[in-house]
Amino acid sequence: MPKVYIKTFGCQMNRRDSEALLGLLQEEGYFLASSLQGADIVLVNTCSVRQHAENRALSFTASLKNKVKILGIIGCMAKARGEEIAQKMPYVDIICSPAKMAEIPRFLKEAGEGKKTLALEDGTRPEEFYHSSFRFEKDRAQVVISTGCSNYCTYCIVPYVRGPLRLRRPQDIISEVKKNIDLGIRRITLLGQNVNDYQYKLSAGDGSALGGQIIDFVELLRMIEKIEGIEEINFVTSHPKNTSRELFELMASSQKIKKHLHLPFQSGSDRILKLMNRGYTKQDYLKLIDDYYCIVGGTLSTDVIVGFPTETKKDFLETKKILEKVHFRYAYIFKYSPRPYTKAFSLKDDVPKEIKEKRHRELLDLQKRISTGKV
Ligand code: SAH
Ligand code: SF4
Ligand code: F3S
Repeated sequence: MPKVYIKTFGCQMNRRDSEALLGLLQEEGYFLASSLQGADIVLVNTCSVRQHAENRALSFTASLKNKVKILGIIGCMAKARGEEIAQKMPYVDIICSPAKMAEIPRFLKEAGEGKKTLALEDGTRPEEFYHSSFRFEKDRAQVVISTGCSNYCTYCIVPYVRGPLRLRRPQDIISEVKKNIDLGIRRITLLGQNVNDYQYKLSAGDGSALGGQIIDFVELLRMIEKIEGIEEINFVTSHPKNTSRELFELMASSQKIKKHLHLPFQSGSDRILKLMNRGYTKQDYLKLIDDYYCIVGGTLSTDVIVGFPTETKKDFLETKKILEKVHFRYAYIFKYSPRPYTKAFSLKDDVPKEIKEKRHRELLDLQKRISTGKV
């Protein structure tokens, strides 16, 4: 059987997708190559969140032209730019959106017979996608609780490449957690673009007498906490607009939920936050942080974007002030990158490159000093 290798760009969700897919392929009898060398089949699982991420995946793929038997571009960039890639990179055999990944074993068989695949549809993945036992790590695992996003932050391509918010059923999530425990993995990270959007309405079809009851994220955490053998629960990402005190209270009282919160604020300027459609103000955010420190007393991390259209020096300094004030353990700081399909794409990308770079560097330096305890 041929050897398959998946190169992953992008977020933890993408990494889990690569893992699940490798598991499916292993069950089909493929060998998993431990590195690029020696692989007959290479799938590039791509990210579209910034132009830079796309460029890296494209040049990686181009470097493999005529070097492997089957080459695929899968994931978010396949969804965003599949047609264009099919035209410009005719040597790519499989182009597959995130929603169609469970069908890749079939696409690979067809590629072996010389047929190319362009599968770009959105939709709900079959539950079986998550069922195999292959794991990258021995002591921790990621479990997807929802796919897609319906928040439509104006800069963000995720809702367009991953589709609208779709929830996995609580019983499916729980059975995957239990499976990890059976595999000897007791530390779990729950994944969703915004975990707080989780609101699953139980129906008779869920085999529960609790038809009509809503399982929200806090309730889901309570259910997972009770699973025998679980030792540590983490989750990413939380959106400030619907992170609740109830969540903080559960984090405070739980022996298992890690006291760390990734809470992206993106910008410290209310005007920019509004343009980003984030749904909170700087004051709302700082109040939430106060509540978190008072109730949970844990650590924090965040994401920030500099150079969003129309960002002035004053707006930027407000962002800087939040980093100085909150003292995040770590922060991911990004330069704004215009993305197709998004609302902000129609705005002029008017912060000059040099200014974006200067602001980026300034925040990176500041955060480095904070993270290393020098400020
Ligand atoms: N769902 C998560 C993560 C989304 S993508 C959340 O809402 O927090 C991860 C990060 O990439 C975002 O938090 C944002 O800071 C950054 N990002 C998203 N789109 C971007 C863009 N067009 N330009 C620059 N950074 C972007
Ligand atoms: Fe993108 Fe906003 Fe959804 Fe996060 S919450 S994935 S930033 S649209
Ligand atoms: Fe993740 Fe990038 Fe897609 S951040 S959801 S891999 S666009």
